Amino acid sequence: MKPQLFAFVSTLLCVCNIPLASSAYRDHTYLIYEFPNDTWVENIAARSNGELLLSIVGKPQLFAIDPSAPSPRQPVLIHEFTGFLDVFGIAEYQTDKFAVLTGNFSLETGDLGIGSWAVWSVDLTGVEISLQDGDTVSFPGPKITKITDIPAAHFLNGLSLLSPEQQTLLIGDINAGVIYRLDIGSGDYEIVLNDTFTAPVPTPPFPISGVDGLHVRNGSELFFSNFGKQQLYKVAINEDGTPAGPVVTVANTLSTLDEYDDFTFDCDGNIFITTGGGNSIEKISTDGLQQVIIAGNVNSTALAEPTSCVFGRGLNDRNVLYVVTGGGLALPVNGDVIMGGQLVAIKTNTNGSAC
Ligand SMILES: *[C@@H]1O[C@H](CO)[C@@H](O)[C@H](O)[C@H]1NC(C)=O
Ligand SMILES: *[C@@H]1O[C@H](CO)[C@@H](O)[C@H](O)[C@H]1NC(C)=O
Ligand SMILES: *[C@@H]1O[C@H](CO)[C@@H](O)[C@H](O)[C@H]1NC(C)=O
Ligand SMILES: *[C@@H]1O[C@H](CO)[C@@H](O)[C@H](O)[C@H]1NC(C)=O
Ligand SMILES: *[C@@H]1O[C@H](CO)[C@@H](O)[C@H](O)[C@H]1NC(C)=O
Ligand SMILES: *[C@@H]1O[C@H](CO)[C@@H](O)[C@H](O)[C@H]1NC(C)=O
Repeated sequence: MKPQLFAFVSTLLCVCNIPLASSAYRDHTYLIYEFPNDTWVENIAARSNGELLLSIVGKPQLFAIDPSAPSPRQPVLIHEFTGFLDVFGIAEYQTDKFAVLTGNFSLETGDLGIGSWAVWSVDLTGVEISLQDGDTVSFPGPKITKITDIPAAHFLNGLSLLSPEQQTLLIGDINAGVIYRLDIGSGDYEIVLNDTFTAPVPTPPFPISGVDGLHVRNGSELFFSNFGKQQLYKVAINEDGTPAGPVVTVANTLSTLDEYDDFTFDCDGNIFITTGGGNSIEKISTDGLQQVIIAGNVNSTALAEPTSCVFGRGLNDRNVLYVVTGGGLALPVNGDVIMGGQLVAIKTNTNGSAC
């Protein structure tokens, strides 16, 4: 969710009861890379070779970075989607082939860019980023093709692979409050979920917002957050993405300052979710019964407005949660602290890939 830059958002900060981060994680958070000021990093995905893909809002850019490279690490521009303002969700649909969402949401004016939204394929097969060269991608370069436009969409945000066999995706429209299923091969799409759980609600000072992060787990269960409602849900789904049972509330945010944005899972099914203006990562047990802030806190710049997270897929970082942030661009930390969007690593005591 990319809120508007309202000056009065700082008045939202209040004295509230926030659980403290568990000390076990405190010393295990480190900065991998900070972008220049005014860079909102929106989404993150891991390649099978351990590199990370980062999408930017406000510039139509997709970057790759190798978190295992020696410092100073430098992201490499993979592609610039000319004619758009932003890149949102990223999801791998075949080995090293990623779908991404682009559109014209304006972080500065709050204009949604209705009519601009599109879904792309970014094929990174054989693409090696050159760390010595910093800003180049080696030949043959990524293969970029448009899968489809979705002209009726208001504001596409979350993205997940639905069925690897059928090559379908689920796409969340945070402002219209619906979830689409898209067939990558044919480009056909239709709405599969539109109910009170996906629906947007007024979220002053932000635009109305609903379904945000969404991820299919084990092919048969869809988890999704609702940014405006500050809740995380799950629902059993059929292979075509339609619900196969009732939507269940997994968790509510621990604080009214927290927002539920994008999230990921560890191998045990625990959920690690970014809290946006809460400046933290919350760990939620699969059943929702245990909720704990594991990194950051509302007054800290360690994770300034985190937007998305993913576990490492390299040889030695399957226990590392990589988090990207908006740098407090929409909700400055403590009301006035802004920095460039960051990529931050959190060493956890659990593994999230190659389970
Ligand atoms: C954040 O700062 C406020 C105001 O100084 C304070 O009351 C609150 O306890 C702090 N919260 C945390 C989690 O440190
Ligand atoms: C980024 O913006 C903040 C707040 O305006 C400012 O204090 C800081 O010096 C800026 N940093 C850079 C590198 O320009
Ligand atoms: C996005 O906005 C820019 C600038 O207003 C415009 O030129 C461009 O056509 C828009 N792109 C789409 C896909 O609508
Ligand atoms: C979602 O459902 C509501 C209520 O039935 C309807 O008004 C709205 O048009 C639907 N949204 C879309 C994008 O179809
Ligand atoms: C995954 O789904 C299958 C059926 O689709 C089920 O048998 C299995 O128990 C599920 N695994 C987990 C970890 O939920
Ligand atoms: C977790 O990942 C590490 C590599 O990062 C691996 O050595 C270890 O065996 C994994 N543990 C489990 C339980 O899979």
